[in-house]
Amino acid sequence: MNVLGIETSCDETAAAVVENGTRIRSSVVSSSLPLHARYGGIIPEIAFRKQLEALPGVADCALRRAGISLEDISLVSVTEGPGLAGALLVGVSFARAVACSRSLPLVGVNHLHGHIFSALLDAPAPRFPFVSLVVSGGHTSLYFVKGFKNMELLGSTRDDACGEAFDKVARILGLGYPGGPAIEQRARSGRPGAVKFRCSNTADPFDFSFSGIKTAVLYHVKRCRRLSPKDVADICASFQDACMETLVGKSFCAAAARKTDTIVVGGGVAANETLRRRFMEQAKVAAMRVLFPRREHCMDNAAMVAGLGFWLRK
Ligand code: KG4
Ligand code: ZN
Repeated sequence: MNVLGIETSCDETAAAVVENGTRIRSSVVSSSLPLHARYGGIIPEIAFRKQLEALPGVADCALRRAGISLEDISLVSVTEGPGLAGALLVGVSFARAVACSRSLPLVGVNHLHGHIFSALLDAPAPRFPFVSLVVSGGHTSLYFVKGFKNMELLGSTRDDACGEAFDKVARILGLGYPGGPAIEQRARSGRPGAVKFRCSNTADPFDFSFSGIKTAVLYHVKRCRRLSPKDVADICASFQDACMETLVGKSFCAAAARKTDTIVVGGGVAANETLRRRFMEQAKVAAMRVLFPRREHCMDNAAMVAGLGFWLRK
């Protein structure tokens, strides 16, 4: 069964064809990111105008690359939220029109659940239950996943999302947007213990808070006045390390509390090499399994939407 997936929750315009919920036949992503860079964040009006222009061509391209036509599609799956209202409206309207025109069923997918599913694409069927960490630009959440239709939210950020904190710290340091890859790159030549940063505690152990550490970086930068490239690298490494420690620590705590040996990580920040390494090191110590998406599937994409749509409809 071929599923056509559509994803337009933020700046990406994406379409994909996934067979039987796992095999990716095509995945096309067009991003308006360069148009937002000068503003230091996503401008919704720019995002959805670009999606209006791009989506028909992107969907066409996904079908062509899969070597099929619309007649071979059995289900349309689309991100219905959370995300930018205008951007979601473009994707949902398009998906509805396609489904209507061919009398196909249509399924709406939660974007964050899609990120959880991204680690399970092109992989053997997962063993439920597992704990999942979704760590992206808009969200940082822990779930207990008992099935694709049964995902319990254990906790989420009380203020900034982790990716958002990376973006804001990058802006403070003048590293441009998006901040995650820029900070990761600078951190490679920095010392993680050079500056003492730590994430704030939260009343609930499975919630997160990244606003305090972002402000600590701001005050540190103000105190320093002039920063050498080495200072910037040390700040990036120290900030990144503190964030990763919190993400890894809380995820393993949640897995222990829910008595599962599997953690699935997804979302844009899951592309971070240090995060992946720290999870794998801890998995070895705790004799647990940690699954990550392929790097290209950490960012927003429609393959995760098509794949999860299949299981939701099943
Ligand atoms: O999942 P995503 O593509 O979009 C949302 O649903 O939000 O995530 C984008 C976020 C941005 O905040 C970006 O800075 C962050 O993921 N990011 C990273 C890395 N690559 C992207 N953060 C840390 N390290 C990275 N390598
Ligand atoms: Zn996302």
